[in-house]
Amino acid sequence: MARDPGNLLVTGGCGFVGSAFIRYCFQVPEFRGHLVNVDKLTEAGNPENVRGFVDSARYHFIQGDILDADLLLELCDRHAIDTLVHFAAETHVDRSIHDPEAFIETNVLGTGRLLGVLKARPKLFLHHVSTDEVFGALGAEGQFHEHSAYRPRSPYAATKAAADHLVRAYGITFGCRFCISHSCNNYGPYQLPEKLVPMVITRLLEGLPLPIYGDGLQRRDWIHVDDHARAIWLLLQHATEGESYMVGARTERTNQALISQLTELVAETSGRPLGDLRALWRHVQDRPGHDRRYAVDCSKLESELGFKPQIELGHGLRETVRWYREHSAWVEAMRSPGHTAFLEQNYGGRLDAGLPGGKD
Ligand code: TYD
Repeated sequence: MARDPGNLLVTGGCGFVGSAFIRYCFQVPEFRGHLVNVDKLTEAGNPENVRGFVDSARYHFIQGDILDADLLLELCDRHAIDTLVHFAAETHVDRSIHDPEAFIETNVLGTGRLLGVLKARPKLFLHHVSTDEVFGALGAEGQFHEHSAYRPRSPYAATKAAADHLVRAYGITFGCRFCISHSCNNYGPYQLPEKLVPMVITRLLEGLPLPIYGDGLQRRDWIHVDDHARAIWLLLQHATEGESYMVGARTERTNQALISQLTELVAETSGRPLGDLRALWRHVQDRPGHDRRYAVDCSKLESELGFKPQIELGHGLRETVRWYREHSAWVEAMRSPGHTAFLEQNYGGRLDAGLPGGKD
């Protein structure tokens, strides 16, 4: 029987995936509760990502930190919260290489604080949003599944793995109620311009050189963020408590193939010659510890919950290119000075002088 998620407290609801989830909740008629969005509004969060979509007395935005356990407890009590959906996290691997401490604080300590709230209010249910990156890197064959061993390899992945372990440990030790989902790479509107898909689109649109790490033959599985939001909503209703689920779309691509496809789409929508755009590709030094391949076996989500992604990759990428073309003010507002400095510091010379072209 379907569980009614009731009133929701969402952490990190102004970020990329969290905001897609909130927009989704207010589209589905089955959601009848209140939704409290607690977001610290770091560089990754923008209230615009939700505002304008959610015109409802059932939506409440609070600027706050998940490290503030008193605030979380007070909000849970005041709004009679039934379910916590935990998105708040530092998520960019490159940032975690340059500033791991921020990841330890938000992803580990922040999740720990949230679990303290769960322990204090045992009726609460937690949906913890994790990633496939906790399982490490795959070789040419195979996929991650719910029983894969944890082998995180970046500071980001290690902090998400630690958070997952804490969630399970609180479940076992204190009887806290939870479910964990591990999604593959997301793409779609409102993603920070420093992640691969928006990075490619925005830099090509602006005629800026594009850093492609190493040989570009790393592989990722890509899901549209709205399909991810749909999967989480399904899980809130139907997941078995205490279990985990892989979320994927069975769309694996090499970075180079994805970049080629995006370059063609940018050429098509902007009218710029394909050759000019390809001349912006730069193969630069690889990311340290770069995971070669991720892929998820999402048959549990498909068979137990009937999940089927609805947005085909080619269509989703075309729409995403269109969105970024039409939202240059948003891109400008979300461009991080820290990340611009990171590009300059690491690839500055090579981006300017690097050899144009690359592999198809
Ligand atoms: P990213 O969006 O950072 O996600 P993740 O590392 O969590 O999968 O990167 C996706 C892939 O694209 C990854 O293999 C690294 C690569 N990449 C580049 O080649 N150039 C870039 O500028 C970025 C941001 C990523």
